Amino acid sequence: MALKITVIGTGYLGATHAAAMAELGFEVLGLDIDPAKIAMLERGETPMYEPGLEELLRAHVAGFEGASGRLRFTTSWEELADFGDVHFVCVNTPQKHGEYACDMSYVESAVESLAPLLRRPALVVGKSTVPVGSAARLAKRLVQLAPAGEDVELAWNPEFLREGFAVQDTLHPDRIVIGVDGGRAEELLREVYAKPVAEGSPFVVADFPTAELVKTSANSFLATKISFINAMAEVCEAAGGDVVKLAEAIGHDERIGKKFLRAGIGFGGGCLPKDIRAFMARAGELGADQALTFLREVDSINMRRRGHMVELTREAVGGSFLGTRVAVLGATFKPDSDDVRDSPALNVAGQIHLQGGQVTVYDPKGMENARRVFPTLGYADSALEAVRGADVVLHLTEWREFRELDPAALAEVVATPRILDGRNALDPELWRKAGWTYRALGRPQA
Ligand code: UDX
Repeated sequence: MALKITVIGTGYLGATHAAAMAELGFEVLGLDIDPAKIAMLERGETPMYEPGLEELLRAHVAGFEGASGRLRFTTSWEELADFGDVHFVCVNTPQKHGEYACDMSYVESAVESLAPLLRRPALVVGKSTVPVGSAARLAKRLVQLAPAGEDVELAWNPEFLREGFAVQDTLHPDRIVIGVDGGRAEELLREVYAKPVAEGSPFVVADFPTAELVKTSANSFLATKISFINAMAEVCEAAGGDVVKLAEAIGHDERIGKKFLRAGIGFGGGCLPKDIRAFMARAGELGADQALTFLREVDSINMRRRGHMVELTREAVGGSFLGTRVAVLGATFKPDSDDVRDSPALNVAGQIHLQGGQVTVYDPKGMENARRVFPTLGYADSALEAVRGADVVLHLTEWREFRELDPAALAEVVATPRILDGRNALDPELWRKAGWTYRALGRPQA
């Protein structure tokens, strides 16, 4: 009989994972403690903007015309425990307030709620990003609490999906990593992931700590790569070099590669910043803090980018923000997402606003979240409206919509045609030809 799958937590990761599991052909039951979220998903709507996810949900959520009906949702732990053979824990592990460590309370409470109801063999699979050592501890707790005792196993299966590509990354992962401690876990997970593995996704089997560390080290490497190129941008600015050309040239070396070398205002979002901090905190607990001191520098280079952008803007408007109008294109931490968590764009906009600038923000998908997080900023309904009367325009999130803007049309409505490209994503020649003063981070001024 085919395995039945449950997904605990229907946020970014959980909603995508549940829909993807249904797409792979499994019967899936998703649980969330928030009934409003469940009601939304049952209508085939997602709480966040993610390309292709609503379509995937509607292809499977029970009740839609033409849907497979393989995907259902519930708020009942009893129903979940009775239904599933494999339970995926997809709750979030945010940064703790005022600390670097991550908050494990959602993961712990998922295990504590589910375990006492597990009366038959089951596999619980953690997907959340957790400090190394968590899986071993949770595995013990599970066996203690579950009536089925040692017939209940745990595995760790970190998730590497990127926002904006969540569906693609889940259905066609570039690797599947599982951490197991004997038992049937590997066999069951090979069954779950048979299709992507047959289509070429590598399947890496490791022990618990290695699997947990794969996730945090992958994110640390990516963060380091971005901060490396941003450090080179600082040196390029001091020496009159061009970081975009430099990145292209070093990227031709296959050992370095071209990806994740886009210099700009740095990384943000719900993962990279908090994951490197939680990793440093955990290494400290393990007495291995020296191994990760470089991550403090990675973090500090990254945070410096935001301040640098603010300073370049101040310089561009003559030394003070008072009485100036600043247009900000982009609020989300990356394009194709409505996520503004730890967004460099919103941080820069906020700093300028707090220093007396009159800031107007426009973002294709992030307006609602940005308004909620930073209600005192000005907002406009289009790029054209945002730049009207501006003394300087900041390009802070590289949406395709901004690359396709007509610089000549914008030049007609601004007070001064001056643009700072915080993402090195616009075509300098195009803007300069239309009469703009174009400046980008880490590149020489014309
Ligand atoms: C990241 C990891 O990529 C993913 O594997 C993991 O599962 C979750 O964290 P995500 O947060 O969606 O995914 O964003 P990502 O595409 O990694 O970008 C993170 C940040 O880095 C964004 O703010 C982006 O603008 C910035 N970035 C990325 C750069 O500044 N330069 C680059 O070259 C690449």
